[in-house]
Amino acid sequence: MNLKGRSFLTLKDFTEEEILYLIDLAADLKDKKKRGVQVDRLRGKNVALIFEKTSTRTRCSFEVAAHDLGMGSTYLDPSCSQIGKKESIKDTARVLGRMFEGIEYRGFEQEIVEELAKYAGVPVWNGLTNEYHPTQMLADMLTIKEHFGKLKGLKLVYMGDARYNMANSYMIVCAKLGMHFVACAPEKYFPNQKLVGECERFAEISGGTITLTENATVGTRDADIICTDVWVSMGEPDEVWEERIRDLSPYKVTMDTMKNAGPKSVFLHCLPSYHDLGTKIGRQIHEKYGLDDMECTDEVFESEHSLVFDEAENRMHTIKAVMAATLGADR
Ligand code: CP
Ligand code: NVA
Repeated sequence: MNLKGRSFLTLKDFTEEEILYLIDLAADLKDKKKRGVQVDRLRGKNVALIFEKTSTRTRCSFEVAAHDLGMGSTYLDPSCSQIGKKESIKDTARVLGRMFEGIEYRGFEQEIVEELAKYAGVPVWNGLTNEYHPTQMLADMLTIKEHFGKLKGLKLVYMGDARYNMANSYMIVCAKLGMHFVACAPEKYFPNQKLVGECERFAEISGGTITLTENATVGTRDADIICTDVWVSMGEPDEVWEERIRDLSPYKVTMDTMKNAGPKSVFLHCLPSYHDLGTKIGRQIHEKYGLDDMECTDEVFESEHSLVFDEAENRMHTIKAVMAATLGADR
């Protein structure tokens, strides 16, 4: 397996073997970290981390992983760089490509990260776009594999807005890895037909399946994994809250959902999550609409089913694997 020089923009670009390789590499790097074995094979190299949207996990994962690999990192936030306002993506790519061995980008349209990768001349890693969140998928798959000991054949159900980065990415990774993906949402929140078609072709090869349903009871029955995400994503206007609350409340993950899935089912959430009133936005929504939680209940979040903090930790190990492999430090 040789991924040196490759960008990591969407899992559509990677084969089943390549994705499984990255998950196994992450598991190995995690084991080394726990045992205190140094992996600083990239000493003297540097990475740029561009964030046009906010982040806790992704930024920290890239910074800690870069440091563990021996690299320096430079963080660019939306307010402190020229990107987009005074300098095009194409020019930014050519400048950063002269200084850094790799570039992470979190932002808006997928075309932006694609353009960055086209002109940078070094690997570019997608740290979340409106359409995809591929590093999150590796973390989720590592978490699932650690728990179930396998991936192929498992049933993963996504509940909520299935048109956005998280659901799109789950559909792709399940289709690539021979898993059974179910999106439970009102029809207008189903993923776009073009992407569904592409994923159906991946699933034909891997043995996976794709199901889109409005029926949450049928959809979540006997699921191995129940996933959800916030109802309003970064960059979306506040005006959409009311409609989302109305449309997506029947798709909230509750203990009844987990019971319907079965006693061995697990719960994943990329985080951050509105599972209680511990956030400013959560309290504002509570004041306005009377909700104590949104996409999942606090009971599920804190239950034995929940693997959300293993999942969050695995962001770092999997991002480290992506950087190590694409910068040629995995052997
Ligand atoms: N899951 C995730 O991407 O978290 P951050 O937005 O905190 O990076
Ligand atoms: N769908 C969410 C994911 C956050 C990690 C967003 O884009 O804001």
